[in-house]
Amino acid sequence: MAEEKAKLWSSVGKKALMAVTGLLLVTFVIEHLLGNLLLFTTDPDPFNKYAYTLMSLGKLLIAVELVFLAFFILHMYSGLTVYLSKRKARPDSYRKSGNAGNPSKKTLSSTTMIISGLVLLVFVAIHLKTFKFGPHYTTFVDGVEMRDLYKLVYQTFAQPLYVFWYVLSMVILGLHLRHGVWSAFQSLGLHHHRFTPAIYTFALIFAVVWALGFIAMPIWIFFDPLNVRQDVLNLM
Ligand code: HEM
Repeated sequence: MAEEKAKLWSSVGKKALMAVTGLLLVTFVIEHLLGNLLLFTTDPDPFNKYAYTLMSLGKLLIAVELVFLAFFILHMYSGLTVYLSKRKARPDSYRKSGNAGNPSKKTLSSTTMIISGLVLLVFVAIHLKTFKFGPHYTTFVDGVEMRDLYKLVYQTFAQPLYVFWYVLSMVILGLHLRHGVWSAFQSLGLHHHRFTPAIYTFALIFAVVWALGFIAMPIWIFFDPLNVRQDVLNLM
């Protein structure tokens, strides 16, 4: 009995950890899209200045990055262990499909969380290599030398394969967010017949808007309707 109770608590604890770290990672995704909207301007300076301002935080930025890395690792750890223990407990249920009804809400996104999560892990690794640790172009803004990330992003999204991979990954991000955000609130005990439908709709709208926002960037840059690329990549 005591062992059963301990098991239950550890599973509840891991779900809560997955929910809290997931929601904290969502705050990064919110900020990241809003900051990246500067990529839609034809002037590289505002985006480069924004990235430079963040980098100027120095040790504070490194501390925040390490904290988010810890959230990321804890999120993966709790997600994987919850998934594996569920599979061990009910190996057959994963082969069955269909809607289990409220509040479990079986959807494409809810049944593919482990796969979408693993794809996002690969996405983030490639993404960091491409941008954060990618080529270090420099530019001057108001006489200050800084990294030209605008140029790097424009160069990257001139390549169709990158655009395709980003669009695919962002659809998967949307699926992960759709179930993840809703489920996080459920795991934290926020289920009530009055709030649950509203949280479900909010998670759906948030996931669609954020995925579309991220998808719009590579597509906009690839098609380059305002002819920015020539100038930015010095192709003249
Ligand atoms: C089309 C969409 C995106 C664009 C154009 C973009 C662009 C960038 C750029 C230019 C950087 C480098 C910033 C720097 O080194 O200062 C960066 C960093 C990063 N991006 Fe993205 N990003 C996109 C989507 C995403 C998504 C969806 C995620 C997460 C799921 C993500 C996660 C990260 C992370 C974790 C970093 C490192 C942040 C840091 O170390 O401070 N990005 N991104």
